[in-house]
Amino acid sequence: MYDVTAKFDGTETSYRNLERELRALIDGEKNLVANLANLSSWIFHAYPGLNWSGFYLWNEADQELVLGPFQGRPACLRIKAGKGVCGTAFAQRKTIRVDDVHAFPGHIACDSASRSELVVPLLKAGKVYGVLDLDSPKLAGFDALAEREFTRIMAGLAERLELTQLP
Ligand code: SME
Repeated sequence: MYDVTAKFDGTETSYRNLERELRALIDGEKNLVANLANLSSWIFHAYPGLNWSGFYLWNEADQELVLGPFQGRPACLRIKAGKGVCGTAFAQRKTIRVDDVHAFPGHIACDSASRSELVVPLLKAGKVYGVLDLDSPKLAGFDALAEREFTRIMAGLAERLELTQLP
């Protein structure tokens, strides 16, 4: 089950397969860090063309997003709400797709290979807990279907995750 069996081809069917695999990964496990670690790993390996896949989690005490489980090169540790693509998606509680990160005002460059980005907020019961950040080395690496499907998939996963604020 941990091998990429079906090639992801960008169709709606592919996204539904990915969703089923992601749900299976967290089924039966309550630990948030463990689940986010496996989710970031599976997205990184199953979804083609990513150079970074991971989570930033809101820390209420520090009033910042803090780096969580991820795959890829070491990244920025902390991001303020409203800053960069991640902080903007968090503050606005909506998915943000950026075709060219150099054209996004305030983009935070962690991995210089990243050219486009998709950031999806982790929303559950009206509360935002953090974001999923996906980076591609290609310009416009994410299309409208990716934006819609990752938003839908993460909403379903958030329902199943024991989302809580980490210290
Ligand atoms: N580029 C992001 C920062 C996180 S890294 O890409 C992993 C941003 O502008 O929020």
